[in-house]
Amino acid sequence: MKQLQPRKIVVLSGSGVSAESGLPTFRDAKGLWNSYSWQELASPDGWQRHPEAVLAFYNERRQKAWQAEPNAAHIAIASLEAAYEVVIVTQNVDALHERAGSRHVLHVHGELAYARGTSPTPRRYRIDGEPIVLGQLCEDGTQLRPDIVWFGESVRHFDEAEAHVATAARVLVVGTSLTVNPAASLVQYAHRDAQKALVALEIEDVPRGFTFLQGRATDVVPALAAKWLSEAPPDTR
Ligand code: APR
Repeated sequence: MKQLQPRKIVVLSGSGVSAESGLPTFRDAKGLWNSYSWQELASPDGWQRHPEAVLAFYNERRQKAWQAEPNAAHIAIASLEAAYEVVIVTQNVDALHERAGSRHVLHVHGELAYARGTSPTPRRYRIDGEPIVLGQLCEDGTQLRPDIVWFGESVRHFDEAEAHVATAARVLVVGTSLTVNPAASLVQYAHRDAQKALVALEIEDVPRGFTFLQGRATDVVPALAAKWLSEAPPDTR
């Protein structure tokens, strides 16, 4: 068991933390995968078959994410940096954690604000809320695609995320159904003695050792952040 770091917090977030900013989740009643097929729009196979439909799907999501604002949960999470080292491991592809002020964000499923080439060693380009169109090429001549990790592709930063979860004295899971691996498996690395909380409207199975705080992120997360800030260990750096 790795050594606990009293001043480290890891936040594992999913689409539910951005729901109250107006961005859709995936598996709730109005979730994206209830209106669209991930096989057609979020897989390498779908990209091969109809790149225009995939580009249009992500262009719409990118524009909405770019127009959205961070909510009270994103802001409360960012406020924890006043007294803790906070590492955010997010499955989300929006930039709302960063725009709320969080400085250490690992996007394990990629980022809407970037495009990349389709070569084996692609270059990344920051495009913010701009669309990608067919025929728009990377410098290496390959078609630009969303810098999103599609189903069947390798997630990013997993080893780094795992190491942070294993040493965090506090772990907050917020707004994720924990149904997509390997991201969901990160909860298993939480230290036995860490404080572990899970915030969601509903959850199939609460991971072992986690306290389920049922409710909306903008209600529950600010209260939890205030409690953790009141308990902050002295800064002995
Ligand atoms: N406050 C707190 N939790 C919420 C809120 C809210 N306002 N709204 C929804 N939730 C919770 C739901 O209870 C559910 O547990 O957020 C979770 C959303 O789960 P999913 O829709 O499955 O989204 P997520 O877990 O982020 O999906 C993971 O699946 O398709 C892939 O790449 C995609 O990153 C995504 C991954």
